[in-house]
Amino acid sequence: MDSIKVFAPATVANVACGFDIFGFAVDAPGDEVIISKRDDSKIVITKISGEDGKLTLDPQKNAVTVPVITYLKKLGLAQGFNVELHKKMPLGSGLGSSSASSVAGVFAVNELLGRPVPVKDLLPYAMEGERIACGAAHADNVAPALMGGFVVIRSYSPLDFFNVPTPQELFVTIVHPDIEVNTKDARYILRNEVSMKNTIAQMGNVAGMIAGLMQSDYDLIARSMVDFIIEPVRSILIPEFWEVKNAALEAGALGCSISGAGPSVFAFSRGQETAEKVSMAMKTAFEKASIHCNAYVSGVNTQGPKVLN
Ligand code: HSE
Repeated sequence: MDSIKVFAPATVANVACGFDIFGFAVDAPGDEVIISKRDDSKIVITKISGEDGKLTLDPQKNAVTVPVITYLKKLGLAQGFNVELHKKMPLGSGLGSSSASSVAGVFAVNELLGRPVPVKDLLPYAMEGERIACGAAHADNVAPALMGGFVVIRSYSPLDFFNVPTPQELFVTIVHPDIEVNTKDARYILRNEVSMKNTIAQMGNVAGMIAGLMQSDYDLIARSMVDFIIEPVRSILIPEFWEVKNAALEAGALGCSISGAGPSVFAFSRGQETAEKVSMAMKTAFEKASIHCNAYVSGVNTQGPKVLN
């Protein structure tokens, strides 16, 4: 095989109470890459679509190729590749856009080479794409994009992460308002100190969320979807955030918070029908303030990246 087409999914990071440690993958949207072997050792980005020319074609600076270059260097391989990237989701959206590209790229190359590295072990390479894109190699988008499902990053040093099963009827609504929030900026505004009171409250919710997911206890999931640390600060970057959140809760959502660094807002619901109702309610709340938005409803995607050809 000389060429491969791969899809990697969007992800919701933080999931209310789990800043930098929780994330899960969705069915759509996602990014696609087409990667072909070259006769030389060069890594060349031949085409990028779907991002209005905002991303660089420089392979040393693009989130799709940096993981590939790091991976090839580590394996001591001199094989070159042409890389086509098709962005199927907005940049700076809080949907893990750069992570989807990073995972798609390194997953595709690994498959093309006959999978010399187990998929799980591709995570450190994919994280290098995140470092290039937003200055911090956090894994709560890349890990679920790579592994599928709901992922917990237990430790960054050493890197230790695991999947948590999710209930069958758990659906997510993601609404992306037509504004851009730069992840670097959204991290910069966070405080470095957290009070003991908020730490205790947040730890309770983190534990509650994991237990709720594992036991399919929807009420426990709902009670645990409270973020005492990040949401109060970052919500100022999202116009109408509180109106949208209230609309989601009134429409029957289990909980609602910021997706990743925002501006997308996500809600969990029990059942697809409720998630669709929640989607309408959240959209209406944004649109009342003349903010155009796109909405997605999905189950939790347990597969992660997939080969399309
Ligand atoms: N955990 C990261 C953050 C996710 O909230 O900054 C960014 O998508």
